[in-house]
Amino acid sequence: MSFDPKMTDVPSRPELFEFRGVSMTHYFTNNWENIQNFQARPDDILIATYPKAGTTWVSLILDLLYFGKTAPERQTSFPIEHRVPFLEINIPSMFQGIDMAENLPTSPRLIKTHFPVQFVPKSFWEQNCKVVYVARNAKDNMVSFFHFDRMNMAEPEPGDWNSYFHRFMEGKMVFGSWYDHVTNWWKKKQTYSNIHYMFYEDMIEDTGREIDKLCSFLGLSPSAEEKKQITGGVQFDTMKKNDMVNHCTIPIMDFKISPFMRKGKVGDWKNHFTVAQNEEFEEDYKKKMKDLTLEFRTEV
Ligand code: A3P
Repeated sequence: MSFDPKMTDVPSRPELFEFRGVSMTHYFTNNWENIQNFQARPDDILIATYPKAGTTWVSLILDLLYFGKTAPERQTSFPIEHRVPFLEINIPSMFQGIDMAENLPTSPRLIKTHFPVQFVPKSFWEQNCKVVYVARNAKDNMVSFFHFDRMNMAEPEPGDWNSYFHRFMEGKMVFGSWYDHVTNWWKKKQTYSNIHYMFYEDMIEDTGREIDKLCSFLGLSPSAEEKKQITGGVQFDTMKKNDMVNHCTIPIMDFKISPFMRKGKVGDWKNHFTVAQNEEFEEDYKKKMKDLTLEFRTEV
């Protein structure tokens, strides 16, 4: 595994467009045919999320569970985005997710995607791969996505908060509607049993408990000592200081605007939503999510 630390070609901000019924940018659709033909292996593990739901957090947990003991040098030599490649990303001269995934020397291969469930290459289902899905409540997810779009030059211009707020409710975000994403992955779980559906809020409440549940899904039994080390290594403050996971090596992100490891809290939406916005949001949310058994917590 290798990476090029001289990634200097910062791209221009892309436009959002409708792609197969989902808002996307060309950075995630350019390589569509190759991505759809990706050959998954039975032991591949897919980490699937709507952007900003805690992907990096769970990626690090899985990387430590599988390789923390057997290949500790990974933790100091390779940024997390190279240990857990982002399948569909295609930013010329910077990231070719599919090549990175194909060239992973590890077993299992840990692979990240933000695709809505219907875009996932079919070989993952054919091979019955394990999938770890992480969901985060819509309000905090929206706030986190807003700050991410401000600082990430490979994202469309976010505009001001109020317009962003409405765009989110309309599903005009990269990777489409949050509502459709969390819902359709939830429905997939009913027919495909190899999905572990997790919640960001549960991880905040009790990281150790959620790691235990993850281990039982994955069939892993780390020692108490290992578990303690992993739980400590993935706390927000520790990850924020860890340059191999805090994304500081990615030149398209401007940390002067907002850091990648920003707040790491449940309830930051209260610092952004006005009372009127909250009312509008709640009314719309009830309509969109009314038929579901899927419930989110907006505070813990
Ligand atoms: P905030 O912007 O609310 O701080 P992703 O990895 O999917 O892009 O998600 C990033 C979000 O997860 C950011 O949220 C980031 O701070 C948060 N996050 C990452 N690691 C975390 C941790 N160890 N504990 C809590 N939140 C974490």
